[in-house]
Amino acid sequence: MAEIRVQHLHKAFADFTAVKDSSFAVRDGDFFCLLGPSGCGKTTTLRMIAGLELPTSGQIFLADEDVSFRRASERDIAFVFQMFALYPHMNVRRNIAFPLVSQGMGRAEIARQVESAAKTLRISHLLDKPVSQLSSGDRQRVALGRAIVRQPKAFLMDEPLGALDAEFRELMCRELRALHDRLGATTVYVTHDQMEAMAMADVIAVMNEGMVEQLGPPREVYECPASVFVADFIGAPAMNFLPFEAALARGEEAIRIGPAHLGVPQIREDITARPLLAGVRPEHVRFADDSPLRAEVLGTEYLGTRTVVTLATAQGATLRAKVDAATPARRGDHVGLVFDASAVSLFDAASGRALRTARDDALQSIQRQGARHG
Ligand SMILES: Nc1ncnc2c1ncn2[C@@H]1O[C@H](COP(=O)(O)OP(=O)(O)O)[C@@H](O)[C@H]1O
Ligand SMILES: [Mg+2]
Repeated sequence: MAEIRVQHLHKAFADFTAVKDSSFAVRDGDFFCLLGPSGCGKTTTLRMIAGLELPTSGQIFLADEDVSFRRASERDIAFVFQMFALYPHMNVRRNIAFPLVSQGMGRAEIARQVESAAKTLRISHLLDKPVSQLSSGDRQRVALGRAIVRQPKAFLMDEPLGALDAEFRELMCRELRALHDRLGATTVYVTHDQMEAMAMADVIAVMNEGMVEQLGPPREVYECPASVFVADFIGAPAMNFLPFEAALARGEEAIRIGPAHLGVPQIREDITARPLLAGVRPEHVRFADDSPLRAEVLGTEYLGTRTVVTLATAQGATLRAKVDAATPARRGDHVGLVFDASAVSLFDAASGRALRTARDDALQSIQRQGARHG
């Protein structure tokens, strides 16, 4: 397996730029997710890594070798597979064996490789079935089998679970990650689904309009989003954003929204008066009768141990709170709200950029932990 490095990658289609100055490194053995909404340039990035698309500028290194302008077939260390791109008239065995037959491998060795892959994927009992008779999940395993037998240096996957129903997707997420770990693979996985990325990735690159907005482990992008876009895209229900206008000075530890003084992580830069946003995740909103930040309950959604309460503040913002299911809350109730001060993110409303605060210390501590474990 091998490290993949992408440096200042650009891709223009006529006058439309699909990928803009993208740089990241996928460490050997990592499960790396390219995450972002439809059209943000994920597939184009993956196709450039695979060699199916040439960059307009920038470089791609595979195991320290510059492969930017190599053809896909010359990048034998990377391999893209599309799920369901199987030969329907062939049985499972012949589908998995196909790349090895093309390589001219001997029959006994092919049989050995196919059986080993089938065992890894737990589809040994299906080897003699035609793929047309398989469920979608088993087809996916066959497609994986065909990728595994090639023993590529890296797996590139483009929304492989998109066609599956929710329950099955969760199962396949776990299986794919377990498979990656068993093979010691390097994987670049493209998805628009933040839950998939959060569940599977070692590192996530959050993409928006052709650019990587943030690069980091799931906990880092969740707890310390670098922009409103990242904060909003990751997490369900999404982060709450409360608009306010203020000048802030380095060292301050509170903001004012309407009549309420809210504690925030210590500000680490001077901000001239301008529109700002306070970002609070639903699990960091609590009810407190004596809080001057008043809100009305618009509705509740019971989730077993937790309830998601939708609220309208007196200032006209809509918020979601994820509270203990035992917390009484009924439509029409008036409540006071408090936030966990240390968990508040602050953003410049115009640029979307996160302000520098003591919250960044949490980020550094996560990074140090990551460095120790990784
Ligand atoms: N061959 C192409 N010609 C022109 N535009 C393209 C081509 N491929 C992709 N695009 C455009 O580039 C943008 C990014 O596409 P893509 O990488 O497929 O996004 P994603 O996979 O994130 O949904 C989209 O706006 C898409 O329409
Ligand atoms: Mg795509």
